[in-house]
Amino acid sequence: MKVPFSPPDIREQDIEAVVEVLRSGWITSGPVGEKFREALTEFSGTAGTMLLNSATAGLKNALRFLGIGPGDEVIVPAYTYTASASVVAHVGAKIVMVDVEPGDYFPSAQRIRAAITQNTKAIILVDLAGRMVDTAPFYEAIEDAQPLFHPSNALQETLGRIALIIDGAHSLGATGYGMHSGQAGDFTAFSFHAVKNLTTAEGGALTWRTENPLSDQVEHFVKLNTLHGQSKSALEKTNSAGWEYDVLFPGYKENMPDTLAALGYSQLQRYPQMIARRHQIIDSYTQALADLPVTALAHSGTDAQGRSWNSSGHLYLLSLDTLGLAERNQFIEEMFNRGISCNVHYKPLPMLTAYRDLGFKIDDFPNAYEAYCHEVTLPLNTVLDDKQVEYVQETAKEILSRMMK
Ligand SMILES: Cc1ncc(COP(=O)(O)O)c(C=O)c1O
Repeated sequence: MKVPFSPPDIREQDIEAVVEVLRSGWITSGPVGEKFREALTEFSGTAGTMLLNSATAGLKNALRFLGIGPGDEVIVPAYTYTASASVVAHVGAKIVMVDVEPGDYFPSAQRIRAAITQNTKAIILVDLAGRMVDTAPFYEAIEDAQPLFHPSNALQETLGRIALIIDGAHSLGATGYGMHSGQAGDFTAFSFHAVKNLTTAEGGALTWRTENPLSDQVEHFVKLNTLHGQSKSALEKTNSAGWEYDVLFPGYKENMPDTLAALGYSQLQRYPQMIARRHQIIDSYTQALADLPVTALAHSGTDAQGRSWNSSGHLYLLSLDTLGLAERNQFIEEMFNRGISCNVHYKPLPMLTAYRDLGFKIDDFPNAYEAYCHEVTLPLNTVLDDKQVEYVQETAKEILSRMMK
């Protein structure tokens, strides 16, 4: 039996929705995108959303909007995908990397607090695996660091503090701490990349919460910045005799065409059921592996105030607690030989050439390294049928029982 890691879940209605756009006479950003972004804003309960070509563009637009650049520092965790940090380099600011907590995949607010300096302009936190970060202690840390905050433009002055940006590439549809994903950070970036829960092949969105004091200014900026800085979109030019336009600043090209928005909008109609199916698979895996010395990252629970939280069920992170790096890799190889594709989330950033070249050393991030050595990600997607789920968990159990004897 073959079990791919994360194939896209494309149904007949998705194909029809894309074909309808292809036949409509308008295929780039237009009315379908408008419908999709309004639906996303409503789904996440946020102040507004802009559709983009990626989550990376979403994070970058938040930084650009805030005017963060050379001389500024942005704090990011070491245990994440490169895009959480590369965007900081893209705007010319300094990446300040923090380790995660021992035995965990996330940095604490205390650790972030210790990394804040008078140059810190933003903190990027990652909703890893689709679990929302509890932002309350991070806002507290930001509040306490107020005397260190030195705004360098009017927008930063209006915000009045360090910005909290969520890399929500994994977390569309997650809930927690009385919120939906998108409502916790000042800004949240979602990814609709091909391997994500909800996909547009390539794509993403930036959303911002109603409490963001800059919320009425983001849309205007992002619209311009992602369409060359041009004062009118292609559709606006087509729909009026007023062909003339201006370019207000040398912007970028990061918009989402309607062909892709149609796929996203179609998937959003059944997204709650997709999340529910993911949780079924997560529960099944966790139950099957319960007798082994492994730790699965939890995807639901209850917070300190008794409120339940539920992830988007994006990734099944499993820590093979008693196995080392070589054995972890052997497990992945054996699973592959049995037709099952696994993965690792993540190789910590300081182990990658780009970040080593920037001077980061993995020895300074021992907790991230330890988490990496034990971690394996099992296939989790909504294309898996019950037989495949059983095959994955029984095969993993068999191999691990042997290796862990
Ligand atoms: C944690 C995290 N952040 C950001 C991204 C980037 O998303 P995109 O490919 O949509 O730019 C990814 C993509 O895999 C991711 O896993």
